[in-house]
Amino acid sequence: MKIAIDGPAGAGKSTIARLLARRLGIIYIDTGAMYRTLTLKALRQGIDLNNENELYQLILHTDIDFFYNGEEQKVLCDGEDVTEDIRKPEITAHVSRVASFPRVRKIMVERQKRMADKVSVVMDGRDIGECVLPDADYKFFLTASIEERAERRRRELIAQGYDIDLDRLKEEIKKRDEADASREVGALKILEDSIVIDTSHMSIEEVVDNMMKIIGEK
Ligand code: C5P
Repeated sequence: MKIAIDGPAGAGKSTIARLLARRLGIIYIDTGAMYRTLTLKALRQGIDLNNENELYQLILHTDIDFFYNGEEQKVLCDGEDVTEDIRKPEITAHVSRVASFPRVRKIMVERQKRMADKVSVVMDGRDIGECVLPDADYKFFLTASIEERAERRRRELIAQGYDIDLDRLKEEIKKRDEADASREVGALKILEDSIVIDTSHMSIEEVVDNMMKIIGEK
């Protein structure tokens, strides 16, 4: 079974995708973590984030792996655990730029397709239904109001020790959504066969129950 989940920043995709995968007993793949990992490595190496060729060379020489330690999923960059580092605001601020380059996306999409080739997966991102799993059994598009998404992001950041003003977060989220929706390749969009769920007034459990119901009905 292949399940694609796309949607804007802060719509709850990763939490929901993880829970859904657990309920179905299948693997969860967080594709945003892959773009974040490349961004982290590029920043550490002082690579110009506007230079597509350098980023392309970098991704060719970067191993990105997921590893489940029995409790949570870890992200490894060339064997190093970067799970926490890739969530830092500095990475979030630059990731859409890195993800905007077609040659970088091509490599990422190829790797993601390979990961989903032989196993059942729930995969979340921006271009999953369109580019990575065009034949997915289900294509969900999760969204929520900008207020709700900024609130959720703020709670996440507070848990990480950052206190960022809500209006600033709203602006950042809007900017990232615009960048993700307007790029040439792999743009965020609702597809003809997307099942749209507005999670603004729903709990995580309600959303997952709703998705399980849709999967059970088909
Ligand atoms: O899902 P998350 O917010 O961690 O994704 C971070 C960024 O990675 C997105 O804002 C987007 O620019 C990029 N991304 C992408 N395609 C995907 C997943 C994420 O371009 N499939």
